[in-house]
Formats: sequence, C-alpha cells, structure tokens
Amino acid sequence: MVGAFIRSIQGSGSESSLSYSEHQPSPIDFGEFKVNFLLRYLGNLKFKILGVRLPLSCQIAPSASVSQGRLISLHRKVLIDAGVIIRPYGGNISIGPNSTVNPYCVLYGHGGLRIGSGVRIATGAVFAGVNHNFNSIDDFIFHQGWSHDGIIIEDDVWIGAGAIILDGVTVGQGCIIGAGSVVTKSLEPYGVYVGNPAKLVRRRQR
Ligand SMILES: CC(C)(COP(=O)(O)OP(=O)(O)OC[C@H]1O[C@@H](n2cnc3c(N)ncnc32)[C@H](O)[C@@H]1OP(=O)(O)O)[C@@H](O)C(=O)NCCC(=O)NCCS
Repeated sequence: MVGAFIRSIQGSGSESSLSYSEHQPSPIDFGEFKVNFLLRYLGNLKFKILGVRLPLSCQIAPSASVSQGRLISLHRKVLIDAGVIIRPYGGNISIGPNSTVNPYCVLYGHGGLRIGSGVRIATGAVFAGVNHNFNSIDDFIFHQGWSHDGIIIEDDVWIGAGAIILDGVTVGQGCIIGAGSVVTKSLEPYGVYVGNPAKLVRRRQR
C-alpha cells in the first residue's frame, strides 16, 4: 500500500517517474543546515583548543589546519575556508574583521603576516613571507638560515586565485591582485596589479 502511494505521487515507471526531490533538492535542507552549523563550531573549537584568539563570530572550516595558535589572532567575522593552512613559524599572524580566506590558501607567518579588514583572499593564494639564505655554494641551502621581513595586506584588498605574495611586501589599501600573480614588491593603494611579477594595469578611481 505504501508502495502504491509512493508510485501515485511519483507517477508511473517511465523516465518521468523520478521524484521531484531526486532532480531538485529542496531549497531549504534543514538537515544539512544543522550539520554545517555544527561543523562551523567544530572548526572554531579546534582553533580555540590550539590557542588561536578568535571571537565566536568567526567561521572556521574543520579541515583548516593551524599550528602554534598562540601567535594567531582572528578578529570578528573572519572566515577561514576548507583546507586553509596557517603556519606562524615564530611570527605573528593577524586577520582583521570581515576578512575571508578561501579554500586551500597557505599563510606563513615567519616575519609576521598582518591582514587588514574586509580583505578577500581567493582560493589557493600563498603568503610566502620567508626566503632561504643561499649566498654560499659550499654548504647546503637548508644550513644557511632564513630571512623574513613579513607581509602586510592593508584593508579592502582583493587577492585573486592562486596569487603568491612574497616576503617584505606591503599591499596598499584597496588593491586588486589578479589571479595567478606573483607580488614581489610593495603595491600602491587602489592599484590593479596582474602578472609575474605583478605590474600595475590601472588605478581604481572614485
Ligand atoms: C585582474 C582582474 C580583476 C581584472 O581586472 P581589470 O582591471 O578589469 O583588468 P582587465 O581585464 O582590463 O585586464 C587588463 C590587462 O591585464 C591582463 N590580465 C588581467 N588579469 C590578469 C591576470 N590574472 N594575470 C595576467 N594578466 C591579466 C589582461 O589580459 C589585460 O591585458 P592587455 O591590456 O594586454 O589586454 C581579473 O583579470 C582577475 O584576475 N580576477 C581574479 C579572479 C579570481 O581570482 N576569482 C576568484 C574568486 S574571488
């Protein structure tokens, strides 16, 4: 009887008999909503346990990874998406309010990494704030230490997918960095920079 009832709302056994829900999921999937809500707090909890300073309004994906959390501070409404890797390596990392870090970005903090407010960081961006010293050819590079001056990203910057920001760079307020760009020098505020090395292609106007 139950089978007959299901068939009656699904139609006959022809191709068109697939139920509505198989083709179009309900716009509100409450089960998924609850799971996502829980997972959001699991990510926050993981970061908290590892010593990261963050308010409850942050959203951390559970798969985001962090080490030495006491050197990291996240401000309100920061979003850290899936697969993001945060490694301070002895430097401080801070991310300002309303900034988002999309999936699979890598944030190194060796010389310090300061990200301002309202910053948008697209997937796969890398903040490589460190260089190996390599002056001597008589020794392994890995024996020769590091240099690191740190990276500063000012407020309201948009960093495109896969961009790489190198050590010692300050990205000025309101800048846009094209996808796949390599930023080797500091950037003037409100510039649009693309390419490797990143060059100014236009200035944002009021
Ligand atoms: C930079 C970007 C925002 C476009 O800015 P724009 O000021 O409108 O620039 P234009 O499209 O007019 O391009 C200007 C020049 O830069 C080149 N260019 C644009 N983006 C580039 C990029 N990422 N890398 C290399 N060159 C690029 C264009 O080919 C063009 O060159 P030309 O003058 O020789 O023809 C866009 O190309 C980009 O990279 N967006 C990032 C998208 C992204 O990562 N999304 C992820 C989700 S947030």
